[in-house]
Amino acid sequence: MASPQSVLITGGAGFIGSHLVDDLLAAGHAVTVFDNFSSGSRENLASVIDDVEIVSGDILDRDAIVAAARGKDVISHQAAQLEITKCMEDPIGDLRTNLIGTLNVLEAARQAGVERMINASSACIYGQAVARPSEEDVHAHDPNWSYGVSKLAAEKYAQVFSSDYGFPAFSLRYGIVYGPREWYGRVLTIFLKRALEGRPPVVFGEGDQERDFVFVDDVVAVHRACLETGLTGAHSFNAGTGVATSIAHLAQLVCEVTGIGEAPVRENVLPGERSALVDGRMRLPAELAVMHLSPAKTERLLGVTPSTTLRDGIAREWSWLREHSGRWTEMHY
Ligand SMILES: NC(=O)c1ccc[n+]([C@@H]2O[C@H](COP(=O)([O-])OP(=O)(O)OC[C@H]3O[C@@H](n4cnc5c(N)ncnc54)[C@H](O)[C@@H]3O)[C@@H](O)[C@H]2O)c1
Repeated sequence: MASPQSVLITGGAGFIGSHLVDDLLAAGHAVTVFDNFSSGSRENLASVIDDVEIVSGDILDRDAIVAAARGKDVISHQAAQLEITKCMEDPIGDLRTNLIGTLNVLEAARQAGVERMINASSACIYGQAVARPSEEDVHAHDPNWSYGVSKLAAEKYAQVFSSDYGFPAFSLRYGIVYGPREWYGRVLTIFLKRALEGRPPVVFGEGDQERDFVFVDDVVAVHRACLETGLTGAHSFNAGTGVATSIAHLAQLVCEVTGIGEAPVRENVLPGERSALVDGRMRLPAELAVMHLSPAKTERLLGVTPSTTLRDGIAREWSWLREHSGRWTEMHY
């Protein structure tokens, strides 16, 4: 275990960030959360609220993030604009948060003289899978959405700062992260919410799109390894499972785990069109056919192997949802 450090985590009140906070505290680190609470919530931090310092601020406010970073050993940067519909409606807003915001965080890291930085990136930086599973340093970096462009550029800036100022910078390319505290809007959450209402999942089209679903604890394990590794320089790591699951299979698994006695329903919704069955939900345009991440580099260099099966992970999210059924009132995209 790494010796206790002082860690600033942007976006620490969010879904993934709050799990990282739990893990950092359990390892004995002193944790400061920096968050503007746009999609995060204090409820996510309820069980640790007395153990964590919370700074309410925006990463676009450079003075605020520089002040918050002062005296910190590590910055974990999780705050971002990650809604795909928003990056399509307002790509400049996406760029501001994900790029200018990240540059502010990097500048704060430089001024604070941190020992290392961990940067939340995304599998979206690969774009359409042309070889699978996608390997970090081999696969094309050809994003299909503006969000992937801003995340890719953020990784590049992290590399440049690492090289110019000498602190290790690790960018984690998350697959589709799921688990307790996930917000409502993505495919698994929509399936689970319908199950909660006693209704079967609705699969758009054939449901043959494949995704690498990674349970949040497995992402936390990769993050922990980045705190402990002796690697220097800048590195990008996949945080996925190496297993690609079709949406049709995901729907079937949800039926089995939740005990919904009906088979999934098919609806012919074309990319960019809205569903008649799922609360006016739009099927995202320019969807990826396949997201499938190689776990090999993460296993080799960080020694972390994902351990939660999709069936078990869904069961854990389902159990959380049944205890927090009031959390999912608003669809994010
Ligand atoms: N959830 C996934 O499957 C997934 C996949 C790939 C990458 N990621 C990345 O992981 C990170 C965390 O995502 P998440 O799923 O936990 O989302 P989330 O929305 O739950 O967390 C984001 C957090 O950042 C905060 N935030 C947003 N803009 C901010 C700003 N300008 N200033 C300060 N705080 C701000 C939000 O309030 C929230 O607490 C993001 O960087 C995201 O791009 C997530």
